[in-house]
Amino acid sequence: MPKLCSPVSRLWVRFETDGRRGALSRLFLREDEPFMGVVVHDVPLPDEVLTELGVQRYVQIDHESWAASQSSFPEGGVDFLQDAYLLSYISLLRLPKDLIEAFFSVFRTLRASPAAQRWVWYCQFVFAQQSGETVTRVCSHWPELTSLLGEHAPMFTAVVALSALPRMVALYREKGLPDSILRDTLSDFLIVMEDYRDKHAGRWGLSLIDWLYYHFTGKLFKLGRLQFKPGTFGQDIRVFRQNGADEVRVLSGDGVAYDQRGLRIPADKEDSGLGVWRATLTLEPGVACGHPLTTDAVCQRQMVRLSLDEWDEVLARGAKILEVHIPKGDRLTSKSCWESYNWAVQFYADLCPETRFMALTCESWILDPQLRRMLSPSANIVRFQNDYHQYPVPFISDGDDIFDYVFDGRPADLATAPRDTRLRRAVLDHLAAGGWMQFSGGFMLLDPDTGRLIPRRRGSTC
Ligand SMILES: CC(C)(COP(=O)(O)OP(=O)(O)OC[C@H]1O[C@@H](n2cnc3c(N)ncnc32)[C@H](O)[C@@H]1OP(=O)(O)O)[C@@H](O)C(=O)NCCC(=O)NCCS
Repeated sequence: MPKLCSPVSRLWVRFETDGRRGALSRLFLREDEPFMGVVVHDVPLPDEVLTELGVQRYVQIDHESWAASQSSFPEGGVDFLQDAYLLSYISLLRLPKDLIEAFFSVFRTLRASPAAQRWVWYCQFVFAQQSGETVTRVCSHWPELTSLLGEHAPMFTAVVALSALPRMVALYREKGLPDSILRDTLSDFLIVMEDYRDKHAGRWGLSLIDWLYYHFTGKLFKLGRLQFKPGTFGQDIRVFRQNGADEVRVLSGDGVAYDQRGLRIPADKEDSGLGVWRATLTLEPGVACGHPLTTDAVCQRQMVRLSLDEWDEVLARGAKILEVHIPKGDRLTSKSCWESYNWAVQFYADLCPETRFMALTCESWILDPQLRRMLSPSANIVRFQNDYHQYPVPFISDGDDIFDYVFDGRPADLATAPRDTRLRRAVLDHLAAGGWMQFSGGFMLLDPDTGRLIPRRRGSTC
């Protein structure tokens, strides 16, 4: 057994064999053999970099990405930390002056620190290479560089996100997409940063890098008022459409818990009694038998049997769908939504003609069926709901969504929370009476043959 001496702590080396590059690996020197490799880079280790940046806590590092990123580290300086870089994208980003100044200040500090440049280079590499899931798992947990960046520390992830601009622009050019869509899609960057500022006493920052990942990698587009993103349906319902007609039946998934009114019980209350009953669903050859949901996501006790000769299953877990997302912005008029839906259907038919999307789906506090009773029929939120077949999704009774989007964060005391809009008043009264808001979903089927949208039929109950 050859004896190994301790690893050479500061060196990462690349071996050249037969002219091909081998993988980067930590070098162990054998005492009894001369060193045969060629040292290409002197690269610091990630923990050394983080220590130098004043990060005390444990940070999970993807060592392969670290090695790969550091082998391409630009010794002449990181280009996206130059003021000129940001200025060259300013007409796309449309950032306010004080935010641009804040970026310049962060750039200056990062440029002055070799360790920070190493770290930001690694982070941009991970952001560029990884899947959305990995970005959520990894990038959302990067440490804030508070000792280095002070009050600007929450802007670090924004700097990393901006590093992806050249790739994003190239992707739009390659697909022949206009700058107007690029600009509109990018508008969420400022919305997300403004949201952070509004919730953090005026400090700029960005907390949703895993959300913006979709924008920067061309997985999400803003088309008019709404955003769209291809996805896979993941909820526990089965949707059937009568042959050749627009009649639709939605059956609840097996074992899903409902209250006496037929509303889905929050996940944290399923064992609380509260008159919980559970739906059943059986799929036998030629027949589906289960509890139908009304278009307002109310589950019916009375079961139905659907003959599969007459009813086609058109939406279930695993189907390809187009997710609809609602960014902050102008009012949600029916006209603006329909312009977006029609645009999206055409847009994705051109962009990915090989994919058969089965529906547009939206999951949001906005689809809570209780809002129908809490707001007037002319409210945009109610009209928005009217176009969708609503379905229940798992949620917890004191989830943050409604607070985030309606009260800019959870109020310290509901009794003194602002009551300046009809929605705020209705939500606060509902919660004070012991109710809870429901995060809910809705779908609009797409005819697979014609690509036509099939909105919920007015007045239909199931
Ligand atoms: C979606 C949105 C534009 C709807 O606003 P809208 O078009 O004005 O909706 P409605 O016409 O139904 O509004 C009815 C009432 O609720 C109020 N309201 C609507 N959304 C509100 C919100 N997010 N916060 C506080 N009040 C709101 C309106 O001001 C109106 O009350 P008023 O008559 O006293 O003025 C708005 O809620 C919004 O910008 N939300 C942020 C984005 C979001 O929540 N996305 C979903 C993420 S899952």
